[in-house]
Amino acid sequence: MAYIYSLPTSASFTGKGLVGYTFGPLSQKDVELYYVEVKKGHDVFMISKKITRTYYILSGSGYFTIGGHKYNVGPGMLIEVPPKIEYCYSGRMTLIAFSKPRWFSGNDTFTKWNADVVGQDLAYRTDGGSLLTRLVRVRLFGKSPVNAFLRLNQRIWDNLPSSLAVLSAVRLCGDFSHKVARMQVRSQAFATLFLRNRPELELIRRLLERTAKGGHLRVTVLGCSTGAEAYSVAWKIRSARPDIKLTLRAVDISKQAVEFAKCGMYSIASSQLTDTQIFEAVTPSEMEELFHRNGDTVTVKSWIKEGIEWHVGDVGEPEVIDGLGPQDIVVANNFLCHMDPPSAEMCLRNIARLVSPNGYVFVSGIDLDVRTKVARDLGWVPLEELLEEVHEGDPYLRRYWPGRYAGLEPLNKKRADWRIRYAAAFQFVPRVISSLTLCNEELGGGSERSEWVPVLSGDGNSNHPMDAN
Ligand SMILES: C[S@@+](CC[C@H](N)C(=O)[O-])C[C@H]1O[C@@H](n2cnc3c(N)ncnc32)[C@H](O)[C@@H]1O
Repeated sequence: MAYIYSLPTSASFTGKGLVGYTFGPLSQKDVELYYVEVKKGHDVFMISKKITRTYYILSGSGYFTIGGHKYNVGPGMLIEVPPKIEYCYSGRMTLIAFSKPRWFSGNDTFTKWNADVVGQDLAYRTDGGSLLTRLVRVRLFGKSPVNAFLRLNQRIWDNLPSSLAVLSAVRLCGDFSHKVARMQVRSQAFATLFLRNRPELELIRRLLERTAKGGHLRVTVLGCSTGAEAYSVAWKIRSARPDIKLTLRAVDISKQAVEFAKCGMYSIASSQLTDTQIFEAVTPSEMEELFHRNGDTVTVKSWIKEGIEWHVGDVGEPEVIDGLGPQDIVVANNFLCHMDPPSAEMCLRNIARLVSPNGYVFVSGIDLDVRTKVARDLGWVPLEELLEEVHEGDPYLRRYWPGRYAGLEPLNKKRADWRIRYAAAFQFVPRVISSLTLCNEELGGGSERSEWVPVLSGDGNSNHPMDAN
């Protein structure tokens, strides 16, 4: 039996604003002890289901926010945080932390980002904004009148006969509600599910048809959360083209999410970190194909999981993107909508640098104005194949319009720019090639480029990166 424990030589966990070491395992099975060096703070606010956490400040200073109250802390102080209360901490300090019982998957619910760690832009903007924005965020006795308005609108919209929903005046009302919804405070979430957008996976499969036998394909999934999307993409590619050498990287800003994803182990009984039914879209036969099952736990099969590289990083930071190197396919879904539009635009422009010439980017779950602007500016060519199916393909996004900021507006072909606005997949064509496939008007009129490469045309002129290998 061990009596003396030393600090492990390498960190047991790191976050954007801290690094931690776990002692043991101790012989007391119901206790876990950590040494934590806090540089900025814990990156998310959380609510513990069962664990009581006790912190002792060895040095430095900072503050704990517990149940909405702020407590300044310094050396020699002990902080006890019981379950079921929202808390977080910020500062520059060294701590000893006790968990009783030990940490277990599913204990923590993350409620919002800590702005001290991830920055105001990512967490949310609480400062200023237009008068209308501030009005939209007003609270009366803790309740938001605008939320009530949006919920009512959503209910009306959900029950509207489709013959009425297409009328211009009705659509305008929906557009207005969604504009209001987009002014609300945004916060990140881990929500994800397996096979979330089937037409998108099918489009990826079709792109592979142009890949030479035995070729090499580089794919990166950004904002991967607990891994469902990266595993879905790996499954699609590896089952369609086992001959291809696939390098798949997946990145998320959250250390917890990446650790979870890396394990590839999920509970059927509980939604764990994500708060979504992650198997909702998976059929029983696909469950058998994707997972090994042991009671209530499933594990991603090794032929799918093998070789995926998992990274913790903020994809808004240029160094993180530079570290990944050029990619043939970049998937950036459902995290840019949680940023305010200027931050999302900056982040998407940074992500764009990842896409190799003639490579593809899949980006959904983002304000359509932001995506359209970046696509136009960078000369991305919208893929027309399966455009409408991919747009309709994510049940969550379509269901959330118009009442929630993450909702996706119904495709409207009356718009002159509908192809570029509603495409979620684009090809990055860095130079003018031959035939005209899209009219300039759709791509923003005054664009300097006058001709665009045909997309998925199979015309034999391809210089697709996947063909080259
Ligand atoms: C709603 S989940 C989406 C998961 C998955 N992409 C999907 O579509 O199912 C958003 C994820 O993006 C991550 N994220 C948010 N901002 C990020 C950033 N700047 N860099 C990397 N990941 C980020 C969050 O931690 C979260 O896990």
